[in-house]
Amino acid sequence: KKQGPTFCQFQGFWCRSSLVPNIISFQKHFQALDDDIIVASKPKAGTTWLKALVFTIVNRARFSLSNSPLNLTNPHKLIPYLEITVYGQDHIPDLTSIPSPRLFATHLPFAVLAESSIKQAKSRIVYVTRNPLDIIVSFWHFIRGIECPDWPLVECFEMFCRGEEGFGPFWDHALGYWKESSEKPHKVLFLKYEHLKENPIQQIKRIAEFIGFPFSVEEERAGAIEEIKTFCSFSNMKDLVGNMTGTMGRLHIQPKELFRKGEVGDHINYLSPSAIERFCKIVEEKLSGSGLAYDLPC
Ligand code: PPS
Repeated sequence: KKQGPTFCQFQGFWCRSSLVPNIISFQKHFQALDDDIIVASKPKAGTTWLKALVFTIVNRARFSLSNSPLNLTNPHKLIPYLEITVYGQDHIPDLTSIPSPRLFATHLPFAVLAESSIKQAKSRIVYVTRNPLDIIVSFWHFIRGIECPDWPLVECFEMFCRGEEGFGPFWDHALGYWKESSEKPHKVLFLKYEHLKENPIQQIKRIAEFIGFPFSVEEERAGAIEEIKTFCSFSNMKDLVGNMTGTMGRLHIQPKELFRKGEVGDHINYLSPSAIERFCKIVEEKLSGSGLAYDLPC
């Protein structure tokens, strides 16, 4: 269809109306544990990559890379979204028997995570964000591939300018986690896709330390971080996960849709200089005074 996906406003952000009952169920019933690790992100910011990294870091003593469940199972099944797959309107799962640390994910803004649960427990959140111009282009390709093949890019762009995209606006999402990470650095680790690309070894070390699974000197010397970097790289994940069968969620997403280019700056190939300038101005204004900045060409 020519039209894009439709989102409704709920608790101050935009989401698909079909998700609302799940979100309410999650907010009402989820009980965070102190050692839970939550991967948080806006769609298309690098979630699949971060899930692969977190899962591999946490489980490295249990599985060698050749025996990793990631060889057979999609990272989105290994670290499921609380508000998409774990909770449903009529589905309140028993999560008490999952071995610790439990690994979950969310696309929800920080502000709507239940006050008495994730926010209060000592559970840790690893957040990944990305240049929003690259998110726009990635999201557009993704939606065209899975449900709206004729959706014009300009419509997608306008939706992001209005902040009416899923789990958006982008700036509120990023600022919510940014502020929490500034005030409580032990609670939220704030990562950027671009930094992960630029210096994956350094960022993998940061993640491991933050979630309580630091690398020993011996592991470092033996090249464990390098191996995890290569195992979770775009090309390896695309080969492994992208070729898996089975679909995900109610949109029946095929794993191959999760891997496109995996590059920084691809927006330049799709958005005009004036569109880029216009969006940069909006983002700059929304983030002004927060200390959060993206490497935007304006
Ligand atoms: S989702 O649907 O929210 O889970 O999507 P998400 O994983 O957040 O974002 C998809 C984009 O991330 C790229 N990708 C990766 N980049 C680097 N390394 C790895 N391992 C990796 N896995 C996925 C994917 O290609 C999408 O970006 P674009 O720019 O569209 O290529």
